[in-house]
Parts: sequence; C-alpha cells; structure tokens
Amino acid sequence: MPHFLILYSFVIITFSFFFCNSTSIPPTTPLYGLSYHINCGSSSNTTDSFNTTWLSDRFYTGGVTAVVSEPLRFRLPSEKTLRFFPPSSYGKKNCYSFPSLPPSSRYLLRTFTVYDNYDAKSRPPSFDVAVSSTILFSWRSPWQESTSRDGAYSDAFFSIQNSTTTTTDLCFYGFATDAPVISSVELIQIDTASYDASTTGDNVILINYGRVSCGSDGQWGPGFTADTDRFGRSWQSDIEFRTGPKDYDLVHVLSTDNEVSGVDREPDYFPMKVYQSAVTVSEGALEYELSVDAKMDYLVWVHFAEIDSSVKKEGERVFDVVINGKNVSRVDIYKEVGGFAAYSEHYMVKNLSTSVLSLKLVTVVGAPVISGIENYALVPNDPSTLPLQVIAMKALKDSLRIPDRMGWNGDPCAPTSWDAWEGVTCLMNKDKRALVISEIDLGSQGLKGYISDEISLLSDLVSLNLSSNSLEGEIPSGLGQKSLIRLDLSNNQLIGSIPDSLESSSLQLVLLNDNLLEGQVPEQLYSVGVHGGAIDLSGNKGLCGVPSLPSCPMFWEHGGLSTGGKIAISFSCIFVLCVVLLVVYIYTRRKRNDYNFGLPHELMSLAAKRNKYQRQKSLMLLELESQHAKGFPSPFTPQ
Ligand SMILES: *[C@@H]1O[C@H](CO)[C@@H](O)[C@H](O)[C@H]1NC(C)=O
Ligand SMILES: *[C@@H]1O[C@H](CO)[C@@H](O)[C@H](O)[C@H]1NC(C)=O
Ligand SMILES: *[C@@H]1O[C@H](CO)[C@@H](O)[C@H](O)[C@H]1NC(C)=O
Ligand SMILES: *[C@@H]1O[C@H](CO)[C@@H](O)[C@H](O)[C@H]1NC(C)=O
Ligand SMILES: *[C@@H]1O[C@H](CO)[C@@H](O)[C@H](O)[C@H]1NC(C)=O
Ligand SMILES: *[C@@H]1O[C@H](CO)[C@@H](O)[C@H](O)[C@H]1NC(C)=O
Repeated sequence: MPHFLILYSFVIITFSFFFCNSTSIPPTTPLYGLSYHINCGSSSNTTDSFNTTWLSDRFYTGGVTAVVSEPLRFRLPSEKTLRFFPPSSYGKKNCYSFPSLPPSSRYLLRTFTVYDNYDAKSRPPSFDVAVSSTILFSWRSPWQESTSRDGAYSDAFFSIQNSTTTTTDLCFYGFATDAPVISSVELIQIDTASYDASTTGDNVILINYGRVSCGSDGQWGPGFTADTDRFGRSWQSDIEFRTGPKDYDLVHVLSTDNEVSGVDREPDYFPMKVYQSAVTVSEGALEYELSVDAKMDYLVWVHFAEIDSSVKKEGERVFDVVINGKNVSRVDIYKEVGGFAAYSEHYMVKNLSTSVLSLKLVTVVGAPVISGIENYALVPNDPSTLPLQVIAMKALKDSLRIPDRMGWNGDPCAPTSWDAWEGVTCLMNKDKRALVISEIDLGSQGLKGYISDEISLLSDLVSLNLSSNSLEGEIPSGLGQKSLIRLDLSNNQLIGSIPDSLESSSLQLVLLNDNLLEGQVPEQLYSVGVHGGAIDLSGNKGLCGVPSLPSCPMFWEHGGLSTGGKIAISFSCIFVLCVVLLVVYIYTRRKRNDYNFGLPHELMSLAAKRNKYQRQKSLMLLELESQHAKGFPSPFTPQ
C-alpha cells in the first residue's frame, strides 16, 4: 500500500523580523538559466525591490484571482495577490503545469501561501500541495494565526528524471469544499548533483524542515534581503531553535567580515554569508531542536567554519556531533580545512521515531562552534499513472470536452491519497510501481464531444460508462482491450458501425442501445448474450445480422459495401455492358440475316461465349436481385 504522509511541520517562515539593509550585491543570477518567479493572481510582470522579476500569472489550470485583505502590510508585490481554486467551478484538483522542463534536471520549488481573510470568511482552507505524484505540503484549518495573517514561504528540492510527460505539475487539492490558495510559485534550476543526489537518488524529494544560519539576527536571502543564494534558498535565524543552556551569557555569537574560502562551489553553492557568522558556547554543550514528522527519513546538513582567529592549529577545537542521542561524528574544523574556510558534513537519519530532531555539539577540546544547519525530509516519489495512460486520459479530456468543474488536471490517479479524476477509478499495476485506469464512469454528465481513439491506450480498462450523454462520432476501433468487461455507451448519438475490435475483449455487458449505429453486428460480440452476459443493441438506426435484428443485405458490412460486394457490382456492370453490346449485335445481325447471308464462324464462337455468359447470368442475376432490395436497378427486371 502507498504510505500516507501528513506533513504538518514542514518549515513555514513568517515575517516576525526586521530585515537589515545589506550592502548592494548584484541580483541573483540563476545558475542554469531556467527560473520562474510567478506572481499568482497578477496580470502584469513586475520587478521587486530585490530586482527579482515576477512573471504575470501563468501555467494554471483554472481558478480565480484575489487580493489579500490588507495589501499594505505586505512588502513584495508577489505577496499581495493570490489565486484560489473553488472546487464547485474548478474541481478538487488544480495545478500549475510547467511546460517542457529539461529531463534529468533538479529544482528548488518555493511557494508563498497566505490567507489574510481574502474571502472575508475568516476560515483558512485545508488543502494539500503536490509536485507530480508526491505530496509536499499539507495545510490544515485552523492555521497558525501568524501564518494565516502574514503568510509563509515553504520549499523543497526535486528532480525530474527522464521525463516521458511534457509538463511538470504542481497541484493543489482542496478538502471538502475548501478552495486552495497560492500567492507565488518559484522554480529555480539547481545542480543535479547537489545535496548528495548520488546517494539519495533521483527518486526522492527533499522537503525543507529547517534551514538555519547560526548567529544571524533575522531571515536572509532571496525575498528577504539583497543577499544572494544561487539556489534561491533563504536562511532563518537560529535563535528560536537553540536549546541547551538557558543562560544566554554562555552563548556567544561570532561574526566576521573577512572572506571565507571554499564557498559558492559546485554542486551545492552554499553562500559565504552562512559561514561569516557562528554560535559558540563557553560552557556545556550547544544544542538545537528542530520539529519534524515522525517515521520519516531525514538528511541533516551541518555547516562549520573556524572564524575565530585565535584558533591557529588543529586539535585546538574538537567536538562531537550527536543527533538524537547518537554520536555521528568527531569534528576538528581546522584539521579539515584550516581557518576561514567552509566545512560541511551531512548525515542521514532513518525512520525517526520522535517528532523532534535534536542536534547536540559536545565539547572534546575547546568550545564547539556551528555556522548553519539544514534538515530535509527525504520523501520518496509516490507512483504515478503510466505515461501512455496519462496521454490517453488527456486526449479523452479534450475529446469528451470534460467540464472544468470535474477537475481533470495533473495526474489522473496520483497522489493516491487524493481522489482520482472525477468519474475515474484507478488501480496499482502488477509490479506496484505505477497506477493504471480501471474504470471510467461518466454517465449523464452532459458530455458533447466524441470518444478519442487514444482510449485504446487504456490497456487495463475494465469498465466504461459514457451513457446518456450527447456523444457523437464513431465507436473507436481501438476500444476492445482484453481487460474490458462492461461497456455502456447507450443513449448517445454515436454513428457508424460496431468495430470488430469489440470481439477481442472479455465483455460481459454491452449496452449500445439508443444510438445511430448501423451495419453488421460482429458475431462474436452477439455471443456475449448467449454466454450469460447482457447485450442491448435496440433503438439504433440500422444494425443487422444477428438474431432479433433484421438480416443484413448481401455484401453489406460495417455501414458499406464489402470488397466482395464491390467486385460483384463491377462484374455485373461489365456483364450488363456485354449483354447490351450482344443484343445490339444480334439485332443488326438479324437484320443482315434478312439478306440471307450465311452464319459466319465468328458469330458461332460468339454464340458459344454467349452460352457461357448465360450461365454466369443466372448466378449474377441472383446476386443483383438481392442488391435490388437496396435500390440497385437490375437490368434483368422485365420492363
Ligand atoms: C511578462 O514577461 C514574459 C517573459 O519575459 C513575457 O512573455 C510576457 O508577455 C510578459 N507579460 C506581460 C503581461 O507583460
Ligand atoms: C536593481 O537594479 C538596478 C539597475 O538595474 C540598480 O540600480 C539597483 O541598485 C538594483 N537593486 C538591488 C537591490 O540590487
Ligand atoms: C536518461 O536519458 C539519458 C539520455 O537521454 C540516458 O543516457 C540515461 O541512461 C537515461 N537514464 C535512465 C535512468 O533511464
Ligand atoms: C563519536 O564518534 C567518532 C567517530 O564517528 C569517534 O571518533 C568519537 O570518539 C566518538 N565520541 C565518543 C564520545 O564516543
Ligand atoms: C520505523 O520504526 C517503527 C518503530 O519506531 C517501526 O515500527 C517501523 O517498522 C519502522 N519502519 C521502517 C520502514 O523501518
Ligand atoms: C451508467 O451510468 C448511468 C448513469 O449514471 C447509470 O444509470 C447506468 O446504470 C450505468 N450503467 C451501468 C452498466 O452501470
């Protein structure tokens, strides 16, 4: 069974800080060219005070725009407007679909979410946010007061593998009648090898559960200050996470304006500012606690730099790193990289049983020191729908003209803890690595389109019910996959004949009544009823050829003449032409006979041929007479 995650503790960063006026630094340039900063709910492009260009709202599948109730309280234009997705008009699942992201690439995804009573209902919504098939963030009503009022940034790193789909979807799913909200979406391409991707693998999403800059007095980085971070990461102050000695005289903040080497390097590009401040303690251990969700795996990244110039050689400052009571490492920064140089370590914490991750630096020689901490939940990608079946479902969405209110957006089946597309039932396939479509139930939905041929790609479809709509066009010849057991297309305006492909499935129920179908019914299909199933073909335009329906005219199949029929008619025409020529010839010959010429031997042979023709005529006559029933004039009918 797919596991069900509720991520309540992913980091939400609110605005209880005063941001400092840093010196002017060139605007953040994306490393890999691709970055989107989307100002949801805005119709124009804007540039904010940090020189970030925000794009007008785009890539969304539906929804309505709104403005927060007190826009003046928000600093950035991207924070004042929002998009919300009322389920009554846009369905439960709505997305931002990013077109053609390059395969095998990695991204920081950052969202800003605020409620600020924009709808005057004083009730923040409950909803989930997922990237592709995996849930990243869960918002549950009631929100924390400050988050609801001031909003919050959340972020995660994810990779795109060799993608077979053309879009990457960031989807929102409202619970009950709640309308999900979103204020801004940022997508920044980062290094594919970052955050030890070679160990964690491509198939894991890193959800931010804490990114802390020790000794910093406030949040800094993109969106908060002019400080740069090439991956678009912002860093929080460590104050609220620090535990241990309550006596603040014992805790000291170190900071330097000197350059620190080994920063801004491949593949993680950690900014220098992280290492220019640090926290140390003059007595006892240095302790931090980050809240987490239990039963998940975490990747903890710890940053150090020796920025105290009084430490001049290795062995002068040595300490142990203890995570949740487990000693994971002994650190001597100077020994590793020397002074004023960046040094990082990272550890994997599996299946954490508590809801707190504690990090303790225990002294061995001198006082411990730390510059930064990052903690990411490692969330494996959940299975998504088989790509070919996604293609089929998107084609059906267009051809059946599925209304917006049904919310046919993103993946048809995933994430599995959400409902599938309305009217669609999914199953895990045999190898348990992908989802497949098993039922489509769209009876009486007022649908007006046609059934796309791509439905043949739904190789696991068991039941299809499109009855009582106004569907036009033919029954696609690709319908009739082996898996199909129930087919109800009754009460539409389907035309043409019943495709032979339906014979190859395991159908037990076939309702094609009350359409405009005509032509020969495939014999095997009719045997459905004989074998204990049910079939209804009544109320059509001209079906024929099985018991209880009229018998089909000769050479009639699938709403047209069969090849045999066409050949027969060609032969008949040639024959008629010959007979006419013969009659004319004999008539003129008879006239000549009046002159009493002898019968020439050529005519003898022609007469012999005539006998042959006569034999053929009797055969042809039969055939043509049956054609006559359909209105083909027979030249042999006595005038
Ligand atoms: C915003 O900028 C993008 C790309 O720079 C451009 O394609 C788009 O037309 C602009 N939109 C508006 C509303 O000006
Ligand atoms: C933004 O860019 C303009 C010129 O393009 C520059 O004058 C200004 O200092 C920049 N602001 C910041 C905060 O980098
Ligand atoms: C992804 O595609 C590249 C080339 O397009 C190929 O070299 C690589 O092996 C593929 N990786 C996987 C996991 O299929
Ligand atoms: C903690 O672990 C390191 C190696 O990971 C080891 O060198 C050190 O002695 C350990 N500390 C204690 C107190 O056991
Ligand atoms: C995680 O730990 C819990 C006990 O804390 C245990 O019941 C569960 O089986 C573990 N899960 C995995 C995947 O190891
Ligand atoms: C198909 O859907 C219609 C309307 O929802 C329903 O009345 C009918 O019973 C369904 N057909 C089958 C075979 O279940």
